[in-house]
Amino acid sequence: MQSPQTRSEPSPFAPAVDTCSIAGMGYFLPPDTVTNHQLALTVETSDEWIIERTGIHQRHRIAQDEATSDIAHRAAVAALVDAGVSPRDLDLILLATATPDTPVPSTACYLQARLDCPGVPSMDLGAGCSGFGYGLHMALAAVRSGMHRRVLVVGADALTRVTNYGDRQSCILFGDGAGAAVVSEGGFLEVLYSSIGADGRGANLIRIQAGGSRMPASADSVAASMHTLELKGREVFKVAVRQMSECIRDAAAALGMAPSDFDLVIPHQANARIVEAVGSQLGVHADNLVIDISQTGNTAAASIPIALGRAREHGRLKPGQLVAVVGFGAGMAWACQVLRVHEK
Ligand code: UT7
Repeated sequence: MQSPQTRSEPSPFAPAVDTCSIAGMGYFLPPDTVTNHQLALTVETSDEWIIERTGIHQRHRIAQDEATSDIAHRAAVAALVDAGVSPRDLDLILLATATPDTPVPSTACYLQARLDCPGVPSMDLGAGCSGFGYGLHMALAAVRSGMHRRVLVVGADALTRVTNYGDRQSCILFGDGAGAAVVSEGGFLEVLYSSIGADGRGANLIRIQAGGSRMPASADSVAASMHTLELKGREVFKVAVRQMSECIRDAAAALGMAPSDFDLVIPHQANARIVEAVGSQLGVHADNLVIDISQTGNTAAASIPIALGRAREHGRLKPGQLVAVVGFGAGMAWACQVLRVHEK
């Protein structure tokens, strides 16, 4: 093993900064897709039901020989290129995932090795579908304090690896993907507001019961499909709408504006009906609401950076605009940011 790199400027002594931004973004969706028709061959469902109840037409799936760090790497490289930053310029890597390559070591360390930037501190964080927002919040704290200067935040999940394809309620929802951002002092998406929260009383609403210290893997746990994700869909639906709406209301109030004043609102892409319900509760015009789930399904921690990246590709991020993003998922945990778009 090579010795860690030496940095000329030790980050703990860098000065605190007032503004913090996303300097580059990228996302990756694996090429293989699963259509509703394919799912209807294995469970009692239909293309029509899935489209009507979720808005999803297809989802992406990682290749047999791939893992979360592989798609995280593709997204990270795209974000670094977009930011014009080399991996060795990073001084922190935060990778949000619920589907690590292995329990030990962290997926962030696999990613760091792939990026070839030894010495850069790297860790995973778990906040379900709001993981990217949690990572962004912590990156913001790290950069603003002066403790770190350039943080790579990645949200990456391969939920198809933990999906129960015998459960028609959940197997229709999930797809794989990764999204990444380089967070630093200067950049084109300035973070004006950031807030995170959680309520562990809802911990059993989305969970994988086995494979941890509570219920280690055994032949019985595997036979009972307890290593797959279980979801209390109807309950999660209601809490997701309520909590994401509240987050956006709080963010708007903190900035002295109304939710309908945001130029773009990007909720976690869990179900098109959830996103529509959030928009209607807040009085956000349909043109200002991002519903971008039809080709991806719910990609968990990757959902927000993918939706944000695609909104940018579609020309929906214009200089001067204010964009609100809000994640929500297992925990229950949520995260909300408001970004001001600058010229890039
Ligand atoms: O952000 C966190 C991540 N997770 C989520 O956000 C999930 C949130 N929940 C949802 O997206 C929705 O609740 C689901 C898509 C999971 C389910 O949709 P729903 O409109 O809430 O359906 P439901 O659970 O109220 O079920 C209605 C009916 C039931 O049949 P009965 O009991 O009325 O006869 C279900 O068995 O639909 C049935 N059903 C299905 N039918 C065909 C459930 N899943 C399917 C299916 N195909 N795939």
